[in-house]
Amino acid sequence: MKGFVIALVLAFGPMNAQPQQTNLIPAPVAYSVRPGNVSPSRTAVLDERIRISRRTLLRRLGGRQLTDWQLKSAYWLELGKKGVKIEAADEEGVFYARQTLKMLAALDSPLTCCTILDWPRFRYRGVMLDESRHFQGKDFVMKQLEMMALLKMNRFHFHLVDNPGWRVQIDAYPLLTALTAWRPEAFFWDWEKNEIGGPFVDEGTPGAYGGFYTKQDIADILAFAAERHIEVIPEIEMPGHNYETRAAYPELACSLPGGGKDPWELCPGKESTFEFLEKVLLEIFGMFPSQYIHIGGDEARKNNWKLCPDCQARMKAEGLKSVEELQSYMIRRMERFAHAHGKRIIGWDEILQGGLAPDATVMSWHGIEAGLKAVREGHDVIFTPTHYCYLDYHQDSAQFRPVGRYLPLEKVYSFDPMAASITEADAHHVLGVQGCLWTEHVQEAWHAEMMLYPRVFAIAETGWSQAERKDWPDFERRASVLSAVARRWGYTVFRL
Ligand code: ACM
Ligand code: ZN
Repeated sequence: MKGFVIALVLAFGPMNAQPQQTNLIPAPVAYSVRPGNVSPSRTAVLDERIRISRRTLLRRLGGRQLTDWQLKSAYWLELGKKGVKIEAADEEGVFYARQTLKMLAALDSPLTCCTILDWPRFRYRGVMLDESRHFQGKDFVMKQLEMMALLKMNRFHFHLVDNPGWRVQIDAYPLLTALTAWRPEAFFWDWEKNEIGGPFVDEGTPGAYGGFYTKQDIADILAFAAERHIEVIPEIEMPGHNYETRAAYPELACSLPGGGKDPWELCPGKESTFEFLEKVLLEIFGMFPSQYIHIGGDEARKNNWKLCPDCQARMKAEGLKSVEELQSYMIRRMERFAHAHGKRIIGWDEILQGGLAPDATVMSWHGIEAGLKAVREGHDVIFTPTHYCYLDYHQDSAQFRPVGRYLPLEKVYSFDPMAASITEADAHHVLGVQGCLWTEHVQEAWHAEMMLYPRVFAIAETGWSQAERKDWPDFERRASVLSAVARRWGYTVFRL
């Protein structure tokens, strides 16, 4: 730490005990004011001098050891009256420097001349959007990617399939979108009653609600995201949350009358289930260049498996002692398939049940305990504990359709993914943090944005800013400034 402070003093001159005030979110590592200011209208015409050089940036860092992924995102920025200077080790750092300038130009009038040195704390700074319960479509997604980029967030977890709708074109299984992307009722709770989903209807049925992404739509979204250094991670749920898949292809259910009592699960006893999943994943791999595939893994009830002759035969043949081990067999097998195609899997924390697949990354949602266990076992973890990160929870009991727990901005902001019990040697397994927007209650685009903002601002700062730069009273002030700007840009932002 002492070396770091000395390095910053060398880079910026003596620093005040109090960091100087900026409106930026996420708060940069180091910010210092220079004499003079610039009118926002002039930022577009300022002379820009860019230097991409690892050596130059390392000099700016003055001995501070960053990991390779941090170096890639790091930047040094000087905003003077006549021009802007940017130094970075990689294009990505230049991109983040420009996002900083863009935000300064939106927040400050005039812009105070300044010097900034900055890099991220965590490599995974994510938002998840559930497009199955309610479908928003391409323009909405791009609009949110734009805001994510401004906030220096870099992972978009695309929850594309679930019980109430399949939302991505799969050529091998056309009924997934010709049938189960469409339903008679628009609002999710009008369709799902007593945890049993309603019917689906054919595409083109008058009044049908739904939609899906064509392969071209996905390509457009990916190009938009790539320009903003955002990796899009698709999620294909298994073995639970598959009511829609079973509605399209009932043979994927267990061999029980009506597919068994649990309406959500696929049958891991049948080879044909694996053939289906592999063909679907091959098309998904063809669409999404991400190194990760999220395979879901959450909330499978597994009751059918205890009765299904195919599942029982599988358990006997593989020496599996419980249905939890049967789930683990399925996830491990899918991991081997993913590896064979150069991909790694992410799963919700239930994939710990029955034994974790060797290389799986765990998305810890029930709390942080599952994530801590996975870290101890040497696995990578992304933290999205419901209490802090589930953005479907209400911000105010008087708000539109309040549900779940009370999750105000301050609570979201208070989360630290680096729990005290994580050792320094294990810290690299904590990839980062994600805000999740489930949409059971969220049909309208404006409502979705109201749930995202300003809480995504807090997730962004938790993901990017160094722990010692977090400061709730100052963040609350900055969130209010950015909220006003976001509203001006046409986003719906919850009023604090
Ligand atoms: C989840 O909330 N079922 C991951
Ligand atoms: Zn079965």
